[in-house]
Amino acid sequence: MTTDPLRLMTTPAPDLTPGQAADLVRERYALPGSATPLDSERDRNFRYEAKDGREFVLKISNAAESPAVLDFQARALDHIAHTAPELPVPRIEPGSDGELLQAADLPGGRSLVRLVSYLPGVPVGDVPSTPQLRRHLGATLAALGRALQGYFHPAARHPLLWDVNQTAAVSPLAAHIEERRGRELAERVFARHAARGEEALAALRAQVIHNDFNPDNVLVNAGDPERVSGIIDFGDMVHAPLVNDLAVLAAYQIIGHDDALAVLAEIAAAFHAVRPLEPAEVDALFHLVQLRLATSVAICAWRAREHPDNVDYILGGHLRAIERLEAIDEREATRVLRRELGLPVARQPHGEGGHGDNGDNGDGDAGLRERRRALLGPGLSLTYDEPLHIVRGEGVWLYDAAGRAYLDAYNNVACVGHCHPVVTEAIARQSRTLNTNTRYLHEHILDYAGRLGARLPGDLSVCFFVCTGSEANDLAWQMARAVTGGDGAIVSRNAYHGNTTAVAAFSPEELPERRTPAWVATVPAPDVYNGPFRGEDASARYAASLDEAIAALSDRGHRPAAFFVDTIWSSDGIFAAPAGYLEDAWQRVRAAGGLCVADEVQAGFARTGDHFWGFELQGVVPDIVTLGKPMGNGHPLAAVITTPEIAERFARDFEYFNTFGGNPVSCAAGLAVLDVIEHEALQENARATGGYLREALGELQSRHAAIGDVRGAGLFAGVELVRDRETREPAPAVARAVMNGMRGEGVLVGRTGLADNVLKIRPPLVFTRQHADRLVEAMDRVLAGVRFETAAG
Ligand SMILES: Cc1ncc(COP(=O)(O)O)c(C=O)c1O
Repeated sequence: MTTDPLRLMTTPAPDLTPGQAADLVRERYALPGSATPLDSERDRNFRYEAKDGREFVLKISNAAESPAVLDFQARALDHIAHTAPELPVPRIEPGSDGELLQAADLPGGRSLVRLVSYLPGVPVGDVPSTPQLRRHLGATLAALGRALQGYFHPAARHPLLWDVNQTAAVSPLAAHIEERRGRELAERVFARHAARGEEALAALRAQVIHNDFNPDNVLVNAGDPERVSGIIDFGDMVHAPLVNDLAVLAAYQIIGHDDALAVLAEIAAAFHAVRPLEPAEVDALFHLVQLRLATSVAICAWRAREHPDNVDYILGGHLRAIERLEAIDEREATRVLRRELGLPVARQPHGEGGHGDNGDNGDGDAGLRERRRALLGPGLSLTYDEPLHIVRGEGVWLYDAAGRAYLDAYNNVACVGHCHPVVTEAIARQSRTLNTNTRYLHEHILDYAGRLGARLPGDLSVCFFVCTGSEANDLAWQMARAVTGGDGAIVSRNAYHGNTTAVAAFSPEELPERRTPAWVATVPAPDVYNGPFRGEDASARYAASLDEAIAALSDRGHRPAAFFVDTIWSSDGIFAAPAGYLEDAWQRVRAAGGLCVADEVQAGFARTGDHFWGFELQGVVPDIVTLGKPMGNGHPLAAVITTPEIAERFARDFEYFNTFGGNPVSCAAGLAVLDVIEHEALQENARATGGYLREALGELQSRHAAIGDVRGAGLFAGVELVRDRETREPAPAVARAVMNGMRGEGVLVGRTGLADNVLKIRPPLVFTRQHADRLVEAMDRVLAGVRFETAAG
């Protein structure tokens, strides 16, 4: 997938006449028309006028360009068209075969070809730079970044000279700057960057960015030259710190301005108004602007032999801008930027040992803990020995009040990534339109119920919308009792199904055993690593334990109404059950008159990768399904889905109404989540990345004796820690130390299981292999350092 960035710069552009270009379009797109050449740095581009009146740009990529990178760019345009259709970016025209990219064998080698809509307009570089235009540039770039926020692609971190993460490849090119003073200026910027260390960039929030918002790549209409009307070149996109996108824009905009800092502040404020910047990002901005200018100068000087004409002109403007910035004290600049953006002005903005202010308005985490205890009571515990003060989330990242980023490998609720813009936008849009209860006709609830039903097998098609998983299980329990006439519940030994009075009674994880009522019976979870049954007949023996539970209920005067199963057994320790277990178990429950309820609050919504629902891992069809957590990506949304027959029998005695359940805003959120899962192929990502993660954890197991077992499905993994691999004795203290140690490493995982010795890993589904690598590396380091809790002591 990789492209050698230097080779890319030196391989000649594909050689093609306008006539040949037109033939190519006619052949691949069935669009007769004519082509006129356009300028391009390393590709061959044509303006194409189709006979049907539409206008396009035909882009024939350099043969040295990686197909994966081009795919990354093509899909990005498609992504933006979906997440922010109002943004003026080109739309990609698929070929007659439906493919966005067309391969063509040309004299210079095999090139990939794209046809994108032509955006009319004048480059920003050709119109006067006014404050209003600059502000609109800042705001538009912020909106573009927001549109790209949830976009991931394996090629997003490709080698690229223009990538701020890869300046090590660019800094030596500064030697090509002939004029001594200019060379020294650029080298000083690179040296300063090297001294700051890689971690300075790594700590900033990163995502796919445009990375080249220069005055040639942004268009305005001649009649309205202060508003952006087009963004046209996505060839330098890369996964990098978000704030670098702003630095690139600002670097070009300050050229030629005496008051560079004022221009920078103006653009940053406009960006900030649309997409709030972190204090740490603001603190890095001034330096990143200088770095971009130095990068441009170095690359331009290196390429001078090929394009000697405008080198002096480019170098002159850029070097003067660097010089102007050099004259400003960076700390002072950062103070000005923070003030302009309305952020607290730090005493020590950054630099040696300074981390900026912690944004906690002087209260401090200890103060928050005290207030929390007083205002929320002592019962609500905090995760981690050193609790986190999280103030923002984005994708797989959570940020604390000091701006530190944490890789979130724990929160399944934000299933499509924290604050996914498609979801937040859907919620915001519908909240501005209408939010009311479900006793009025409305399309959203029906569209959503239809979409959920279409995802479920059998007759599971009637939806009851509620707000929490507990409510869903409570309603499922009411239904099961009403429909079967039974009053007994069966659950797994350490199950958790919720917090209502009824459901808490069959959630043994949170209930002392002595308080379990007589109408509840438990069965062991299908744990073939550390449970009572292992080996070949484990499935049948676990299923047979249902008979014992049914008999125990009967001895106490109860008949089963339902067997509730969390289909990934999250609180029991995370298991993918042995084949055939649920089919056998459910047969026994149904024979005793009970219903089978699949609690998909944990496992549902594509997490298990091979399937959309956890119960599908076992090839069974439940009578009732309950949904929650990931359903609204954080918006409180949950549901019960059952068959028309059960719904009809329940309705004979009860009318179920829920004031907030199924309101138009919740349904808009739920629909957006389904859209994102489908559009971003997150089920496939859960399958592939989950497999990769478990494989890497398995490799870790071969080096760390504390890891007894690695298991799970898709992006739901359990790592069982033991004191002794032979006896499999649980090691809860090690699990606790690893969980806290990983928090220290900036990676968030949880812990679960009957003995609390299983690390729980269930990240947002936008988790990539790079994230998995980071998690495994952190776990490796932590396990190497944890004082080992052995059976001997
Ligand atoms: C399997 C399962 N079911 C139900 C619930 C209850 O959901 P909620 O907390 O939304 O009420 C939970 C919560 O953790 C759960 O894990």
